[in-house]
Amino acid sequence: MSKRAIITGVTGQDGSYLAELLLSKGYEVVGAVRRASAPNFWRIQHLLDRITIKPADLLDQLSIIRLVEEVRPHELYNLAAMSFVPASWDQPMLTGEFNAQGVTRVLEAIRHVDPSIRLYQASSSEMFGKVRQVPQNELTPFYPRSPYGVSKVFAHYITVNYRESYDLFAVSGMLFNHESPRRGLEFVTRKVTEGVARIKLGRADKLSLGNLDASRDWGFAGDYVKAMWLMLQQDRPDDYVIATGISHSVRDLVQVAFGHAGLDWQKYIKTDSTLIRPAEVEHLIGDSSKARSELGWGPSVDFPGLIRMMVDADLERVAAAPQSADRLSTL
Ligand code: NAP
Ligand code: GDD
Repeated sequence: MSKRAIITGVTGQDGSYLAELLLSKGYEVVGAVRRASAPNFWRIQHLLDRITIKPADLLDQLSIIRLVEEVRPHELYNLAAMSFVPASWDQPMLTGEFNAQGVTRVLEAIRHVDPSIRLYQASSSEMFGKVRQVPQNELTPFYPRSPYGVSKVFAHYITVNYRESYDLFAVSGMLFNHESPRRGLEFVTRKVTEGVARIKLGRADKLSLGNLDASRDWGFAGDYVKAMWLMLQQDRPDDYVIATGISHSVRDLVQVAFGHAGLDWQKYIKTDSTLIRPAEVEHLIGDSSKARSELGWGPSVDFPGLIRMMVDADLERVAAAPQSADRLSTL
């Protein structure tokens, strides 16, 4: 009998890669989407004949209960969230409703419909924020630096609490930054690789960025969704850090991306103080030894390989797009 899984956030970067992974393993996949006035399926277009789409919104408790009752999944991957850190200062209440209470709603739905459903909660290295320890592992204390980070700390602890209170198989994956050609355009890796493509093809002549000194432990999203699945296949639920263990600065990112296209980045990068965050996470680097030994997980794509993959995909995409489709503003 094939397993059934619900993915919330299936239209997002990770949701699309996870849906591909679960389909390859023979799962029946149900993607939960919130209502929009127009479909937002560009990342899962190639999967629409193999997955089922059902409506649900993290703001609406009954919609989640109905979804879980109808599908009766073996596993639920809760990837839906407001995931862009700067937007969380603009909309802190909504961020809390989606990312913190939204998770409580999912946990309540599982508890009421079928407590045997296994839950993956998408936690984040943003919880470590102003880091208390280098590198960060499962025992590192949290110090979030944004409403987004704070909301994810709540989500992490409510997941742990429901596991301990109600004996649910609920796990929290503390994933460091992971990227791909499907990354949203506002995140720094994709902003840079798309910017490089536009400059190379004569569609732009500059790229504005904020803090070039911030550094992140960047990996490939396709590798990270494998870790999500592995966490739900264990004998007992536990929380894991997922990271490459290598950190690079935004400046390194810019050098690799422009260099790959044969461009001198210093001619094109402008710094813009409005892109500096009210409170910054300066340096993240993860220690994923526990996941490597207990889950047998490891990354397959290194940082230069990831950035080259993204630049190549953007060069192809921008070249194929009509000029009228160019973005009107730089985020
Ligand atoms: P993403 O591309 O921004 O996708 C977010 C998804 O959440 C989208 O499908 C979005 O739907 C959905 N969503 C947002 N609000 C919703 C609501 N109220 N109800 C239902 N769906 C809603 O994010 P991602 O990079 O794939 O990340 C997936 C998860 O991992 C997020 O929880 C993120 O915070 C977390 N995370 C990401 C990283 C990373 O580096 N990528 C690292 C650590 C943790 P629409 O298409 O309708 O907007
Ligand atoms: N977005 C963006 N745009 N970031 C910039 C820019 C810019 O123009 N210039 C410099 N940066 C710096 C940011 O200040 C930050 O230190 C770093 O680049 C990474 O920013 P993002 O790519 O926006 O990602 P993030 O680290 O804030 O958050 C992502 O990773 C988290 C895991 O650590 C998101 O995917 C979160 O959802 C995720 O939880």
